[in-house]
Amino acid sequence: PRICVLKGGLSAEREVSLSSGHECAQALRVAGFEVIELDARGDVAQRLTEIAPDIVFNALHGRFGEDGCVQGILEWLRIPYTHSGVLASALAMDKARAKAAYVAVGLPVVDSRIAPKAEVMAAHVLPPPYVVKPNNEGSSVGVYLVQEGANTPPRLSDDMPAEVMVEAFAPGRELTTTVLGDRALTVTDILTDGWYDYDAKYKPGGSRHVLPADVPQDIFDACLDYAMRAHRVLGCRGISRTDFRWDESRGLDGLILLETNTQPGMTPTSLVPEQAAQCGTAFADLCRLLVEDASC
Ligand code: DAL
Ligand code: MG
Repeated sequence: PRICVLKGGLSAEREVSLSSGHECAQALRVAGFEVIELDARGDVAQRLTEIAPDIVFNALHGRFGEDGCVQGILEWLRIPYTHSGVLASALAMDKARAKAAYVAVGLPVVDSRIAPKAEVMAAHVLPPPYVVKPNNEGSSVGVYLVQEGANTPPRLSDDMPAEVMVEAFAPGRELTTTVLGDRALTVTDILTDGWYDYDAKYKPGGSRHVLPADVPQDIFDACLDYAMRAHRVLGCRGISRTDFRWDESRGLDGLILLETNTQPGMTPTSLVPEQAAQCGTAFADLCRLLVEDASC
């Protein structure tokens, strides 16, 4: 089959997606597919109609690519596509509504609320430390950490949406788990000098990944179980990656679910390809499995 890899796009994670898309396209060629790469701009529907691929490999991240929008176009065009469908994508991308789904099945999350930007900038909405972030971005774009003891509320940039998510700061280690098909793969412990921000995520050497994570068995098993349940309650397809924070001083009670990514990064510094490789699935096979699972 002829595969079109969608990459780039219109979101704040455009550069990340260009990298993910490039890696996936190369891997699919290695796996023997004919591959066309398409930068998903405003004319994506028209371009897809012209190209008429058998399958779309979605390597987009963030708004329009990860939130159900492009998935809706692909449904409309009747082109089978990889990763999650419209509903799961839209739900996972909306952090507040995804949390409501997690809570409904008993998964642990941090208290948060959606508040108007002006209110957040006028006074502390929560006692510091807390985090302010867009309700629908990834890669730590637009994340503000208000430190313990901070006197003033955060000055949010003009790029931030009119309403933002304010979340109590969850201290602890960064853990993450990939679900591939019907299996939770493993747990990675992400070590950084500071915050696991955009640079730490994508600069070579910006973070160190320990996998399988050196954590107690009950924490390890809980990550696998929570990631699987999150994948299921959102209705994800193919692959997802669920991120956690673990405050080791509180044992299992200190493990909380931050979010599930339906279009996890596939860049050279990304977590999913490493976890798959650790579990015996080479990158080209991972991409092939996603293609075989494509539907519309
Ligand atoms: N949002 C980035 C791509 C990730 O979750 O890997
Ligand atoms: Mg994310």
